[in-house]
Amino acid sequence: MGKKIDNGQEEQPIPLLTPYKMGPFQLSHRVVLAPLTRQRSYGNVPQPHAALYYSQRTTEGGFLITEATGVSDTAQGYPDTPGIWTKEQVEAWKPIVDAVHAKGGIIFCQLWHVGRVSNYGAQPHGQAPISSTDKEITPHLPTSTTGYDIKFSPPRRLRKEEIPDIVNNFRLAALNAIEAGFDGVEIHGAHGYLIEQFLKDKANDRTDEYGGSIENRCRFALEIVEALSNAIGPHRVGIRLSPFTDFMDCADSNPKALGLYMAEALNKYGILYLHMVEPRIRVNENSKRHDDSLLPMRKAFKGTFLAAGGYLREDGNEAIAENRADLIVYGRWFLSNPDLPKRFELNAPLTKYDRATFYISDPVIGYTDYPFLETTTA
Ligand SMILES: Cc1cc2nc3c(=O)[nH]c(=O)nc-3n(C[C@H](O)[C@H](O)[C@H](O)COP(=O)(O)O)c2cc1C
Repeated sequence: MGKKIDNGQEEQPIPLLTPYKMGPFQLSHRVVLAPLTRQRSYGNVPQPHAALYYSQRTTEGGFLITEATGVSDTAQGYPDTPGIWTKEQVEAWKPIVDAVHAKGGIIFCQLWHVGRVSNYGAQPHGQAPISSTDKEITPHLPTSTTGYDIKFSPPRRLRKEEIPDIVNNFRLAALNAIEAGFDGVEIHGAHGYLIEQFLKDKANDRTDEYGGSIENRCRFALEIVEALSNAIGPHRVGIRLSPFTDFMDCADSNPKALGLYMAEALNKYGILYLHMVEPRIRVNENSKRHDDSLLPMRKAFKGTFLAAGGYLREDGNEAIAENRADLIVYGRWFLSNPDLPKRFELNAPLTKYDRATFYISDPVIGYTDYPFLETTTA
């Protein structure tokens, strides 16, 4: 029901700003903060400035997903990304989670292992990064496409008997996240990192039961889903997938079948949500353009469906109104507009994001200094 406005007509509610019940969580609107790596967690330890950053983006009943957070000492690839495998890291997350909860927000921690998107320098004892494969990422990739200044070292293919240890790293990290006060976790199964290195056939060249068929390539991801569901409850577990992207040399010959297989397989575990990245996202000029849609996966998955990638106010509203997603996830525009839900409510102008400061280590600039509406319209 809409509010009455002056001329006596019903004002239509703004779809993005309608409430939604996601499992046990009562959300007051559908504008979600995307996981956004900011590289300001010095020495892999979350810092006090992150409490301000996340609380700025918190609304009562709003849903936030943290930046990708390493599950173990082999999970890192970029400098100053946070982890959640040590006691110190868990303690450091607590005030950040508390700051979000103090404003009535709901926050999940995105759990991450980069796999081969790493180098000797980022690994314990200078060892090789681990992966599904020993194939290297195309060397020219980092600076030309992402702006990330990292070098990739040749990975080491995980032996089959090592895989349960990695699943266990995710499980322990999820337990740590709950210990830190998070409401749940999102498994980072997207964008070319370790889980995708198993999921996609361009990267996964294994011949054991973790490679080959779709079922085999999805086994590692689903083992993590199962382990986390058992450890912290399926209502606290979400997963992010990007079958259509080709980030970090991870592409699949049949992304639609892969996405659909995962959407259907996830139903068995009854997890809270499936978060998918739109096919329209292109990471560089040579990436394939996909005219596919997420609709088959949206229809197949029985839990909450989150869609991300290139959304603004109008198409976000349309996606909700047409029931193509339950929640819309905003990255760059939420980064530069801490009060994004308010701006959508008022249809106010947005502050443009500054790419140059996405990944710098300054604790304020390009991080907590984006203006709120009151200060821009005064
Ligand atoms: C600065 C930056 C950091 C990002 N870090 C992550 C991350 O840690 N985990 C992740 O899954 N996606 C990450 N992404 C992708 C975003 O979550 C999002 O899917 C992407 O920006 C597209 O959405 P948008 O068009 O609303 O920005 C990042 C994107 C940007 C711009």
